[in-house]
Amino acid sequence: MQIVKTIEAVRTQVKAWKKQGLSVGLVPTMGFLHEGHKSLIDKAVAENDKVVVSDFVNPTQFAPNEDLESYPRDLEQDARLCEQAGAAILFCPEPSEMYTDRFCTFVDMQGLTEELCGKTRPIHFRGVCTVVSKLFHIVQPDRAYFGQKDAQQLAIIKQMVEDLNFDVQIVGCPIIREADGLAKSSRNTYLDTAQRQAALVLSQAVFMGQKMAENGETSADVIVAKMQKHIEEEPLAKIDYVKAVDAKTMQIVHEMKGTVLVAMAVYIGKTRLIDNFIYEEAK
Ligand code: PAF
Repeated sequence: MQIVKTIEAVRTQVKAWKKQGLSVGLVPTMGFLHEGHKSLIDKAVAENDKVVVSDFVNPTQFAPNEDLESYPRDLEQDARLCEQAGAAILFCPEPSEMYTDRFCTFVDMQGLTEELCGKTRPIHFRGVCTVVSKLFHIVQPDRAYFGQKDAQQLAIIKQMVEDLNFDVQIVGCPIIREADGLAKSSRNTYLDTAQRQAALVLSQAVFMGQKMAENGETSADVIVAKMQKHIEEEPLAKIDYVKAVDAKTMQIVHEMKGTVLVAMAVYIGKTRLIDNFIYEEAK
């Protein structure tokens, strides 16, 4: 596996692969890779001739009060995981390689970005769309892999690909959980022992809501209220949001009709964690 720091080196290699008729998969990440990322890389390796994993803590998706500086990093461990999983390139540029001093162009989506995480993190998705667009231009992948844990991000990227005519197939991959249910996240590393235990309220609420929907509860409001109540019983948890939205448009829904995303962001201490489930109404 090559560890590559420049855009030019990635482009040269990808061009050579394309000349040979090889397909290319991209797994965009911010590093500190865990089993969730590995599941994306495994799927990409199974479906493409060559896989590029990008490892870049993207500054434009963090607001000044957020955890850009403290975001966990471990490039050596990431390289080991990518190599073992069969990636061909680990692309880990410096911020100055991705954003020159003259940088001033952003991809800014409306509508889908305004609810859920967009309310608390108003510049977040502009940064995500911008960096993902740049990665698509640099790597020119046939397929790109994103986790369903960031369900709003996945919906936004699908919409961006449609709106801006990117020639890439977006592949969504299931949430990977710890044995006790907690969704895998690089930010889980911030939790102390008591917080780690308290963080289980997220997945417990998800499983509870999912079960209610599957057992026939048709009111999204009733499901959300029950999930909220469960989380509020945990003293270390503070809800940012628990909401039910249309899985494609991200607009609030009150009934479990069509495809509904029930998503949450919850602070455990200072750590903001997210989790969700998707409910598909039986036809
Ligand atoms: O999901 C992430 O890790 C990031 O938002 C992404 C897609 C790599 C863009 O920086």
